[in-house]
Amino acid sequence: MSRSAIVVSGSRPTGRQHLGNYWGALRNWVSLMNEYQCYYFLADWHMLTTGYEDTGKLQENIRETVLDWLAAGLDPKMCVLFKQSDVPEHAELAVLLGMVTPLSWLENNPTWKEQLQELAKTKLSKAAQQGKKGATAVKEAPDKERIDASLRTFGFLGYPVLQAADILIYKAQGVPVGQDQLPHLELSREIARRFNSLYGDVFPEPQPILTQTPKLPGIDGRKMSKSCGNTVDMYETPESLENKVMALYTDPKKLRADTPGHPDPGPENPPGCVVYALHKLYNSDWETAGVKCRAGQLGCVADKKDLLEILGKPFADFRAERQRYGADPKMVEQILEEGARKAKAVAAETMRQVRRAMRLT
Ligand code: TRP
Repeated sequence: MSRSAIVVSGSRPTGRQHLGNYWGALRNWVSLMNEYQCYYFLADWHMLTTGYEDTGKLQENIRETVLDWLAAGLDPKMCVLFKQSDVPEHAELAVLLGMVTPLSWLENNPTWKEQLQELAKTKLSKAAQQGKKGATAVKEAPDKERIDASLRTFGFLGYPVLQAADILIYKAQGVPVGQDQLPHLELSREIARRFNSLYGDVFPEPQPILTQTPKLPGIDGRKMSKSCGNTVDMYETPESLENKVMALYTDPKKLRADTPGHPDPGPENPPGCVVYALHKLYNSDWETAGVKCRAGQLGCVADKKDLLEILGKPFADFRAERQRYGADPKMVEQILEEGARKAKAVAAETMRQVRRAMRLT
């Protein structure tokens, strides 16, 4: 891609960002910002596709997300940083793209099918827990059908159409995403192709820019995610960081310091050692830690203490930046306003072309 290439990516404003967000997306966004014309946005409408029932924390989460992005190095002078719902042209394009998107493309979207199942499971177990905690114990059994129906909305099924609009409205050539987003990006390309073949060439086909980092495991060894409650956040205090690092999942077969361990994931130890995963990201000499562990010369507690020491500086640096940005109560608002203005200018021009191409004007 040339220097003038347009790059677009978004992320749902989940609030405090964790290391999975950082290594999976943010870090890549920061480095692309120096090379291309980048548009990065908070996908607050996408947040609603599954979170429409509880929007009480949305504004707070947007602010937390932006502050973490800034502290991680996103520079609003080097990219256009904005909130999706501040640029309603995304919605207009989504409506029009919806006209040319066959339902079967959406129903066969593997991400939708998987998420539907996963979210239903999470919601069901939350409902069960709340039932247990309630004073009157299990008043009504968690209603699997009700939960499933609440997730089967037009908006959630149409998630990739809105995502295609987000990307195509800036005529993006590159879209930095994780592996899990590839089916969505493929749909964006198909929708662009369909549109172009019906109304003439308006949209380039966006290509993925894949993040190199493998999926980061959370404290318990499963994929790190807020809904699993297993995150290491970017904004941990020294105390909370220590608690979390000391609780990281390690090879259960390594019972004592002198037992040879298997820090890497493998058939014998499927989730892999989370301490080792973090060494790989933060410790330039990560191989030595693995060699010593495998040789039975390094115990898990000592290994965690080494890791904690290595994490000290990057976490302290981040905290300082985060506090600096957080001290200005107006800054986030101003950055988002300015970003929306810039994004809107481009989005409005694309919409003029789209309306003309479709003979709406
Ligand atoms: N689906 C993306 C995610 O869950 C968020 C997103 C919305 C996005 N619109 C986008 C990503 C456009 C890239 C481009 O992370």
